[in-house]
Amino acid sequence: MRGNDSKTDLLAIDDLSGRLSEIIDWAIRIKNDEEALYDFKPLDGMTVGSIYEKPSTRTRVSFEVGVSRLGGQPLTLLAGDIQLGTSESIADTAAVLSRYMDCITYRCFGHGDVAELAKHSTVPVINALSDMHHPCQAAADMMTIVENSDKMNGHVAWVGDGNNVLHDLVLGCATLGYDIVFATPQGFEPDESVISRALEIAEKTGSKIEGVNDPKQAVEGAGAIYTDVFVSMGEEHMDGKMGSFDGFQVNEELVSNADDDYIFMHCLPAHRGEEVTDGVMDSPNSVVFDQAENRMWAQMSILTLLCNEVAWQTYWELR
Ligand code: CP
Ligand code: NVA
Repeated sequence: MRGNDSKTDLLAIDDLSGRLSEIIDWAIRIKNDEEALYDFKPLDGMTVGSIYEKPSTRTRVSFEVGVSRLGGQPLTLLAGDIQLGTSESIADTAAVLSRYMDCITYRCFGHGDVAELAKHSTVPVINALSDMHHPCQAAADMMTIVENSDKMNGHVAWVGDGNNVLHDLVLGCATLGYDIVFATPQGFEPDESVISRALEIAEKTGSKIEGVNDPKQAVEGAGAIYTDVFVSMGEEHMDGKMGSFDGFQVNEELVSNADDDYIFMHCLPAHRGEEVTDGVMDSPNSVVFDQAENRMWAQMSILTLLCNEVAWQTYWELR
């Protein structure tokens, strides 16, 4: 049987706790030293399986390419093609896949499903997006913020829905000591238990976390402005939801309240003309495609840590 009792799962970004900063440093180093990968194959002989119950461009492709670059074999399993959810339980699927694979990533609807897979798997499980958390996105987001930290101030603003991407962004900002103000419409605030967790972390790091309902208040003097779609995957049935976001579009007028050197962030895919205008998405302040690229580097760092910690720890000493 593969795996061991001391495996680390990544269900939400705070599962990495104090290691997030090291993970980002490692990712930035590997990004800037591509030659390193000529002779560094920490996933050699390993297989990383990825289950998708929802569509994906960035997560799927960045995992497939990242695993290959690390010398491993990626295997993508689309929900309709496997027995999971139709004639086999999550627990039994976890037990079976753990016999073949060295790591499993899972994009699902309810967060409880990825938690269940992790509970019954003997190999590390990475949440590739659930309704509550998107830790791989947050790792790339925090990497992008760190990369831009020379020019941007440390005040991050969120404008939009209190969703999965915001949850891990707040936890990531709290962990690395960035301040974050999130503006959400009334009734669409982030989950209280996630914010409590973030506030606990922030007590130690000194990060300030604040929730408001006014986008202008959130972006005042901001160093980064982040938005995401107003209606997430799985919420398409919530017909009236869009109507609650009047005034929450990130447009030229709103960003004029930010610091001149602010960076614009979006996890993508973006619905241009809804939560963000073309003018903001395509402006020189926009780092959205750097964020998308960083998904791969951040996940390569996480995969190496979770699947081959010795290589992760010693690699830079040996070079
Ligand atoms: N940001 C993100 O997770 O994109 P995909 O849905 O394309 O994977
Ligand atoms: N909040 C969005 C993020 C997509 C990457 C969703 O869950 O659909």
